[in-house]
Amino acid sequence: MKAHSKRTKNIVVLDADPAILDYIYDILSDRFKVKLIADPSELERCLNSSPAPDLLLMDWNIVEGENDENALGLLARTHAHKPLLPIIMLACSADLKEVLTATQMGAVDVVLKPFRKSDIDTAVEQCLVKTGLQSVECDVDEIPLNEDTSFVRSCKRMREIESQCTLVARADIPVLVLGESGTGKEVAAMLIHKLSARSQRPFLKVNCAAMPADLLESELFGYEQGAFTGAVKSKPGKFEICNSGTILLDEIGEMPAVLQAKLLQVLQDGSFSRLGSRTTVKVDVRVIAATNIDIKAAIAQKSFREDLYYRLNGFTLKMPPLRERIEEIPILARHFMAKVAAKYECDPLPISPVLMQALSSYSWPGNLRELENTVKRYLVLANEQAIIDELSPWHQAGADSSATDPADGETSLKHLVKNLKGRAEAAAIAQQLELAGWNRKLAASELKISYKALLYKIKQYNLSPPPRKPQVTVEKASSFERVQSA
Ligand SMILES: Nc1ncnc2c1ncn2[C@@H]1O[C@H](COP(=O)(O)OP(=O)(O)O)[C@@H](O)[C@H]1O
Ligand SMILES: [Mg+2]
Repeated sequence: MKAHSKRTKNIVVLDADPAILDYIYDILSDRFKVKLIADPSELERCLNSSPAPDLLLMDWNIVEGENDENALGLLARTHAHKPLLPIIMLACSADLKEVLTATQMGAVDVVLKPFRKSDIDTAVEQCLVKTGLQSVECDVDEIPLNEDTSFVRSCKRMREIESQCTLVARADIPVLVLGESGTGKEVAAMLIHKLSARSQRPFLKVNCAAMPADLLESELFGYEQGAFTGAVKSKPGKFEICNSGTILLDEIGEMPAVLQAKLLQVLQDGSFSRLGSRTTVKVDVRVIAATNIDIKAAIAQKSFREDLYYRLNGFTLKMPPLRERIEEIPILARHFMAKVAAKYECDPLPISPVLMQALSSYSWPGNLRELENTVKRYLVLANEQAIIDELSPWHQAGADSSATDPADGETSLKHLVKNLKGRAEAAAIAQQLELAGWNRKLAASELKISYKALLYKIKQYNLSPPPRKPQVTVEKASSFERVQSA
């Protein structure tokens, strides 16, 4: 049972408007102990009273006493004084900048006035669930998004990203997610969708770099029967399927120019037409776009439309690379271990301090995706030393000194080394299997790897026992050998 449900929580509401205080009291008093104050000078005493408040709702426009301290000042002071007390701001303005400032200063959420009962209910519930979880299990730092994906975060920077996602989710504006490959852009988009009013509707992803322009157009906008050769039946596009949901346009920087114009139209009024159709369709889809390219440079080179950029850029979320949040590596490594072990239906392997040290010292050009793959390899190979070797500075030096492919952080030299290593490994395994007469258990124990790891390797290198040769051939061969050795 979660901590927040064990006793009635105390909520303090500070607002100069008695009508608002009354309204919030009506909304919350059946489940919570609610204390109302209209004068900011009473706040401090109220926060220090017993039992301690569990949550503070505070008006944005409140002004305190003689020196006219504004709400942000009061917020900063309250947060410094009671860092664990969650604070929700009640604001009239939807100015995202101000809202972000508030979250940076310690507010966990902002509810816009005029609000409905459900706005307050949702904000209070979410806030108490989050803080309840935090106080019970400090290690539980993840928000499940679907069966296999969670948003894990522990450092300050990622908690800020989470707050930004929470806020922008409510604002229902387009979002541009920037960041290197593997930093969690898709995960952030899923989080925004999950926290938004659209969460019960579809979330779809389309990779704009994965297909040629005409295919991408039909994928996004659909087509009518006969629109092109092979269009035997009309088909709705992702925008129609996703109506009232959220669409993630991944690798938006690669979107062909013709489609950029069509997308701009959708962002302006939600309208477009299917290929081969003269009628327009109208949809209500929230667009989240993601890219790992330098979009400003793409605009300068005229490969990306500036007007589209401004439309998409209702809010920009910048995902930090993993090397800038190394304090998260232990929690992420354990998370990925649990995730991969569950997927392969096996027990997770422990991550020793030595391995953790190696994981933490590596630069992770492929970011979380690379970390996840490394943990997966470790689980499958069950060979800690192999992973530590792989992460060693020698390998990193190879990665740093040759041309880097930003997509996966692979390098030609690194690739070469990997290939050579792979071939040597495959040859060694094949030889051992031959010696053991393809008794896999025996071969695994000779190779000092687990049976499971061997099975994985056999599959990976596509090894198979030699076809049974007719007896006579074998004899011939052995007599030939004897002749040779004689
Ligand atoms: N904050 C996070 N918590 C847990 N897993 C994450 C997080 N961010 C990314 N991942 C995982 O890392 C991998 C890469 O994330 P993804 O969102 O696809 O990156 P990007 O879209 O930036 O290339 C995925 O398997 C994803 O589930
Ligand atoms: Mg991606």
